[in-house]
Amino acid sequence: METSDKSGIANADLTARHAHVIGWGKAVPETAMSNDDLSAFVDTSDDWIYARTGIKQRFIANEGESTATLAYLAAQQALEVADILPTDLDLIVVATSTAENIFPSTASLVQDWLNAHEAGAFDLSAACSGFVYAMNMAADSIRAGSIDSALVIGAETMSRILDWQDRSTCILFGDGAGAVVLQANETPGGVLSGVLRSDGAGGDLLAIPSVGSIDANQSRAGANGYKLYKMYMAGGEVFKFATRVVSESVEQACKLAGIKVEDINLVIPHQANLRILQAAARKLGIDSDKFMSNVERYGNTSAASIPIALCEAIEERRIQNKDHIALVGFGGGLTWASMVIRWGIPKPSEQQGSLLNRQRRHVQYRIAKWRSRSRRWRRRVNSRVRDLQS
Ligand code: ACO
Repeated sequence: METSDKSGIANADLTARHAHVIGWGKAVPETAMSNDDLSAFVDTSDDWIYARTGIKQRFIANEGESTATLAYLAAQQALEVADILPTDLDLIVVATSTAENIFPSTASLVQDWLNAHEAGAFDLSAACSGFVYAMNMAADSIRAGSIDSALVIGAETMSRILDWQDRSTCILFGDGAGAVVLQANETPGGVLSGVLRSDGAGGDLLAIPSVGSIDANQSRAGANGYKLYKMYMAGGEVFKFATRVVSESVEQACKLAGIKVEDINLVIPHQANLRILQAAARKLGIDSDKFMSNVERYGNTSAASIPIALCEAIEERRIQNKDHIALVGFGGGLTWASMVIRWGIPKPSEQQGSLLNRQRRHVQYRIAKWRSRSRRWRRRVNSRVRDLQS
C-alpha cells in the first residue's frame, strides 16, 4: 500500500503502521476554586468534599476562557512537543460535552486558529469516555492508512453546565483541556488495543438535556430534576457502574493487547472520584500507586481528565520507554472505554528541526488569524458585490 509523502513511510503495508503518541499538552483556566471558596455559596464543606471525593480544588473558566480557547492552548503545547507543524495534521478531534456551539464544532475552531488547513475536524460526544473513544478512532484511521497525523483533544468547561445550586454535582467538576498528537510510524508499539462500550439504558443516570431534547419543554423537569443545559446525575448509581466497568474494561483491553493486567505499569483513569479509583484498583488487583490520580487539584474535568493526567504522569516521569499504559474512561451514555498503549516515542524524522519548526509554527499561528479574517472579509465583499449586481 502506498502512503502519502507526509508520513515518511514508503510502501508500508497495514501491519507496518503503528499509531504513536508523539506530543502532549494541557491547559487549565487561570482561576482555581477551592472547596472553601465553594462552601461560601453552597451548603457544603472542605471536609465533606475531600472525604467523599478526594477533591481539594478545581479550575473555573473566566469570561475570556472557553472550551475552544483551552483546547487551542493544549493543542499548541502538544504540537510543540511533537515538533510538527499544524499543516502536518490530517485530523483534529475534540472530545467534549461542553462544545461552544452545536456547530461549528470546537475542533473546527481549533483547526482555524492553528492554521491546520490540511486537517478534517469534528467533535466527538461520549462524555467522560470521549477522549479514549477519540484516541481509538484516530489510531484506527492511522493504522488503516487513511491518515498519518491526528490531534486528539479532550476539552471542557463543565462550570457552564453545572447547576450551582445542586451541591451533589457542582462540587465535583472543573474546567480544562488536554491534547495528544498521534502519528504513524513503523516502530512497533503505540496504541495496542481499544475497547469501546455503551449502555444507553443508563442514559438517564447522567444527562445534560440540550436543544434536540424531546423534553425541551421541560415537562419532566419537576419530576426528575432535569433542567435544560444543566447536568443531572444520580451519583450513587454512577459510582456503582464506574467501579464495575473500570476493572472489566481494563482487563478486556489487556487481553486484546496480548498482555496481562500485571504487565500494566500505569493506569490513567478518568478522574471522577478518588474512591472510585481506589475501588477499581482493588478489583483489578493492582497497587493503587499504579493508578494515576490528580483529581485533588483539578476535580472531574470530564473528557479532559485523562489527557491532563497523562501529561502530568509524563511530567512526573512516571512513564518510561516500553511501559504499558492503560487509559480508561467512563461516564454519560452510559459509555466506557479502555485502551492499552506501549509507550515509546519513535525518533523524529530527518526533516524536523526544532528551532526552525518552532518559528514556522509561530508564523502559522499568526497567519491563521489573518487568513481567517481575510476569508470572512472576502466573503462579505463578494456577497455585497453580488447584491449590487442583482
Ligand atoms: N456537601 C455536603 N453534604 C452533601 C453534599 C455536599 N456537597 N452532597 C450531598 N450531601 C449529603 C446528602 O444530602 C446526603 O445527606 P443525607 O444522608 O442527610 O440525605 C449525604 O451527604 C450523603 O449523600 P450521598 O449522595 O449518598 O453521598 P455519596 O457518598 O454517594 O457521595 C458523590 C456523593 C460524591 C456524588 C458520589 O456518589 C460519587 O462520586 N458518585 C460518582 C459521581 C461521578 O463520578 N460522576 C461522574 C462520572 S461520569 C462524568 O464524569 C460525567
